[in-house]
Amino acid sequence: MRILVTGGAGYIGSHTVRMLEKAAEKVVVYDNLSKGHQQAVNANYFVQGDLFDSQLLAETIKKNNIDSVVHFAAFSLVGESMQNPRAYYQNNVQGTLNLLEVMLESGVNKLVFSSTAAVYGEPECVPITEAAAKNPTNVYGRTKLIMENAMADYSLAHGLNYIALRYFNACGADPQADIGEDHHPETHLIPLILQACLGKRESIKIFGDDYPTQDGTCIRDYIHVNDLAQAHVLALQALYNGKSSSVYNLGNGSGFSVKQVIEAAEAVTGQSIRKDIASRRAGDPAVLVASSEKIKAELGWKPEYQDIKSIIKTAWQWHQNNPEGFN
Ligand code: UFG
Repeated sequence: MRILVTGGAGYIGSHTVRMLEKAAEKVVVYDNLSKGHQQAVNANYFVQGDLFDSQLLAETIKKNNIDSVVHFAAFSLVGESMQNPRAYYQNNVQGTLNLLEVMLESGVNKLVFSSTAAVYGEPECVPITEAAAKNPTNVYGRTKLIMENAMADYSLAHGLNYIALRYFNACGADPQADIGEDHHPETHLIPLILQACLGKRESIKIFGDDYPTQDGTCIRDYIHVNDLAQAHVLALQALYNGKSSSVYNLGNGSGFSVKQVIEAAEAVTGQSIRKDIASRRAGDPAVLVASSEKIKAELGWKPEYQDIKSIIKTAWQWHQNNPEGFN
C-alpha cells in the first residue's frame, strides 16, 4: 500500500497516519496546514499542498507511486458551516471533485473518504443504520452527502472504488504518542470541558437544555480517534483485497448527553466546573447514536474504547501535557 493522506496533519488524520505507517509500504501526508499542525506529522513524507493545486497533487502521486488515497482534508464545523456555506461548498465539494479528477487522471482508483453522522440529520430512529434517511440539518452534512453521492456515481461510471466512513463524535487522543485535538478556535465539547478543568476557561456553555432527551441536552455517540484510525486501515486493506465501494458508520453505539459528558469529565479530572445554560446551536440534531454493526460484520472492526471515561482519560492526558496544544 502506497497511500496519500490528504489532511494528514489534522486531528483524525494524524492519528490515522500513525496507524497506517505500521501497515503500509509508504504514507505521504498532503496538507495545506490551514487547520493541521506540522508537529503532528512525523511521517517520512510530508508535502505542504492544497487540494486545488492539481499539478502538485499529480506530481506527488506520480513521484511516490501512490496507489490509494485517504481523504481527510475538509472543513468540519457544523456551526461555522451555517455561517459560511461558501467556504464549505468550495473546500469540501469543489476540493474533493478536484482530488477525484487528479486521481482518475493518475490511474488511482482506491479512496477512503471521511464522511460524517451529520449526513443523517434528525434521525427517525436510533441507533442509526447506514440505510437510514439522509436529511442533513446543516451545510457541513450536506457537503459530505453531496460527495458521497458523487463518489457513488463515479464508482459506477469511472471505476472508482471507495469506502466512505461516517464518523460520529471523534474524541480522545493516542495514549502513546504526543498528538491530540488542537483546533483554533476550539468548538468541540470534550476539549472545551477539559480546558475549563485546566482553568483555561471560566465555564462551559451547554447549548440548549430543552431538547426531547432525558436531561434536555443533546445526545451524541463519542468514539475514540484511534478506533476511527483503525477503521481506515481495515477499509484500505479491504479495498486492496478487491472489496467494492461501500459506506460504514463508526460509533460506539451508546449515547451520552452533554450533561453526562461533563459529569464524566469531572469524575476523570477531579475538577468541578461552572456550567451555563445557553441557547441551542443552529444545525444540532437532538440525538445521534450509531449502529456500527455493518463494519463490525464486514471488516471485523472492533472499537477498543467502549467507555466514555476511558476515552476522556486519554484526552485529559494530552491536554494536561500540552495545555497550549501543539504551540
Ligand atoms: N456543545 C455544547 N457546548 C459547547 C460545545 C458543544 O453544549 O461548548 C454540545 C453541542 O451542541 C453538541 C455536543 O455538545 O450537542 C457535541 O458538540 P461538538 O461540537 O463537540 O460536536 P458536534 O456533534 O457538533 O460535531 C461533531 C463533529 C462534526 C460531525 C458531528 C457528527 O465535529 O464534524 O460530530 O455528529 F459532523
